[in-house]
Amino acid sequence: MSVSKKVKEIAPSLTLEITAKAKKMKAEGISVIGFGAGEPDFNTPEYIINSAKKALDIGFTKYTPASGMVELKKAVCEKFEKDNNLKYDPAQIVISSGAKSSLYHAICAIVDDGDEVILPSPYWLTYPELIKLAGGVCIYVQAKKENGYKMTAEQFEKAITNKTKCLILNTPNNPTGAVYTKEEITAIANVAEKHGVYVISDEIYEKLVYDGEAHYSIAECSDYMKEHTIVINGMSKAYAMTGWRIGYLAAPIEIAKAISSMQSHTASNPCSIAQYASVTALTDVEGDKFIGEMQKVFDQRRRLMVDMLKDVEDIVCIQPKGAFYVFVNISKLFGKEFDGIKIEGSLSFADAALKKGIAVIPGVAFGADECIRLSYAISIEDIKEGLTRLISFIKELK
Ligand SMILES: Cc1ncc(COP(=O)(O)O)c(C=O)c1O
Repeated sequence: MSVSKKVKEIAPSLTLEITAKAKKMKAEGISVIGFGAGEPDFNTPEYIINSAKKALDIGFTKYTPASGMVELKKAVCEKFEKDNNLKYDPAQIVISSGAKSSLYHAICAIVDDGDEVILPSPYWLTYPELIKLAGGVCIYVQAKKENGYKMTAEQFEKAITNKTKCLILNTPNNPTGAVYTKEEITAIANVAEKHGVYVISDEIYEKLVYDGEAHYSIAECSDYMKEHTIVINGMSKAYAMTGWRIGYLAAPIEIAKAISSMQSHTASNPCSIAQYASVTALTDVEGDKFIGEMQKVFDQRRRLMVDMLKDVEDIVCIQPKGAFYVFVNISKLFGKEFDGIKIEGSLSFADAALKKGIAVIPGVAFGADECIRLSYAISIEDIKEGLTRLISFIKELK
């Protein structure tokens, strides 16, 4: 039996590879501080867990409509209106098993074979694989460090050809922590409208912004943009519900309908119990309280990390404004050695750092080999210990 050409091209997740290596070392009794976490280290709040228990007790354990239960779609509409000033009809909402599924559906729904999809780089490592699976072609636009790793409207316009179908925009950004301002988003929206380019806007980290920054959705720019954007969001990051697998999207009605029928064949529907609990997550007053507290803790850790790293020689980290990652440029260390490993890029840096008991994600996974990603979804104690190790590791490089 042989694997199809399409699937053969899919790259294995580097993030998982490093995490597995670190896990193996831990199992062998070696102390490793992992900076790889891609999920909040908070438990799902009690009020959501209780709601899931209730779903089980009342027998809410059957199929739901393919695009999700109506109550959840209504709660999502209320969220969009309250947070993003966007009015949708429940028929424009599709609930899926995680935002990753929503993204794949969105790409499949609008991208034909050979269509170009513009991807600002650094990018979240899943996008290129989903684009390839859908038959699309990735067009990378290198966002500059000097611009806080944000693609400019001019760069976007230069990348557009007659084959361009859509742009994938991710703000707040994984891996860089960048948050696009309203002005930057508006300039990008103007270019999208001028050239008839659709937008898939991944806003999964919208609740995690700092330093007085505000999240702004490109769909808010104009009625035209709302009609040409698929907004992706979900429960994973905001409500510490990564394992529950609930994501959602808002799209023009014909796109939502197409995605719903696709999902009816591939998945039937997302988990009924997780959907039931998500209604409670979104509508109960406890939600905002939980998010506010989590955001404060992340902010404290973010400041600590930046403070510890900002004066370290030969590395540069740009103050992240959102999500829970710090992206660090390590290119000045290339050519140096540690314990027989020559640092030639982010992969060899990550390999060498692991020998010192620190697991970091190599930037090559995100299209930025000159960087590493450090997550602060870990405890203050681990951050302090891990960064102390990292700093002494950097000093030991010869
Ligand atoms: C940028 C981005 N989008 C989407 C997702 C997927 O989230 P979900 O758990 O809802 O599939 C992630 C998860 O890491 C992410 O970082």
